[in-house]
Amino acid sequence: MTRVFSGIKPTGHLTLGNYLGAIRRWVDVDQRQSDALFCVVDLHALTVDHDPARVRRLSRQAATLLLAAGLDPKLCTVFVQSHVDEHARLSYVMECVATDGEMRRMVQYKEKAARERERERGGSVRLSLLTYPVLMAADILAYGTDEVPVGDDQTQHVELARDLAVRFNQRYGHTFVVPRATRPAVAARVMNLQEPTSKMGKSDDSGPGIVYLLDEPDVVRKKVMRAVTDSAAEVVYDREARPGVANLLEILAACGGGNPEDLSGVYESYGTLKKDTAEAVVELLRPVQERHKELCADPAYVEGVLRDGAEKAREMAKPMVDSAYRAIGLLPA
Ligand code: TYM
Repeated sequence: MTRVFSGIKPTGHLTLGNYLGAIRRWVDVDQRQSDALFCVVDLHALTVDHDPARVRRLSRQAATLLLAAGLDPKLCTVFVQSHVDEHARLSYVMECVATDGEMRRMVQYKEKAARERERERGGSVRLSLLTYPVLMAADILAYGTDEVPVGDDQTQHVELARDLAVRFNQRYGHTFVVPRATRPAVAARVMNLQEPTSKMGKSDDSGPGIVYLLDEPDVVRKKVMRAVTDSAAEVVYDREARPGVANLLEILAACGGGNPEDLSGVYESYGTLKKDTAEAVVELLRPVQERHKELCADPAYVEGVLRDGAEKAREMAKPMVDSAYRAIGLLPA
């Protein structure tokens, strides 16, 4: 059976981008067809300036939302990264396989490091932000993962995990499965509604352009109705020239299972396109929000799922990490 692994970082409230780019497929496809693990990657949330209490709160919230979205612990394994030591154990070994040049070439590192430096006015960037993709590779490789379902922004990191797996196997003998990224057919990169040339990212500050999974229906409507488009009159799907409209068409298509090109022919004005998109998003989020409310009333259930998930994950990862330790030359304990 295909082994699937993916993760989500508790650095902010989860967004529509996370849902359409990743979580929905985990629920609808991956957990049903594969042997799948989904992880709240809390160690990754420590790579930028953070408040410990907020990370704890967001980790709990992310886990609760994954279950609310429909991840079923009977079908898949849901856990928190820091509960399974194997991630950090393998990460160090993979740091001995990766190079600093590879790390510095990562687009997300360049963007985030520039943002952190700007925020701290020329200040420092945490070393863990540079080595982040190695920890992500360890997350993936520890489980013998075949497929990594992610949005577009993570494909470079998955490529790195592939490169490191191949390099390790060549140097030290076949140990790791070489994973591949899988992406959704539409909405692999949901854009910020106010800045449609930038990704809708949960750690960004620009609230009005980001639809959060827990936004009230009226807030969702307001954000979508105020989405930046352009001054052209017809509704045309063109990602380069008309990014705002293309983003709305992709969101609508992803909500209703259509295709953005076809949908562009259905609309004559931006107003109706926005209205329908807003309603489609509200309806998409409604059941997730209802289930989230129920689960918040039962924190012991969520904790139990995470405890069992960590135990299962540990059992799966330990043999792989042990064999990587042996292959690279460490004495068995
Ligand atoms: P994160 O937490 O930023 O995002 C979680 C998932 O959501 C996708 N995503 C999007 N998809 C479409 N449009 C968007 N605007 C959008 N924003 C986010 C991401 O592509 C991702 O699939 N480094 C990862 C977390 C991670 C991981 C892993 C993922 C750590 N270890 C191992 C897979 C496997 C991250 O920061 O995702």
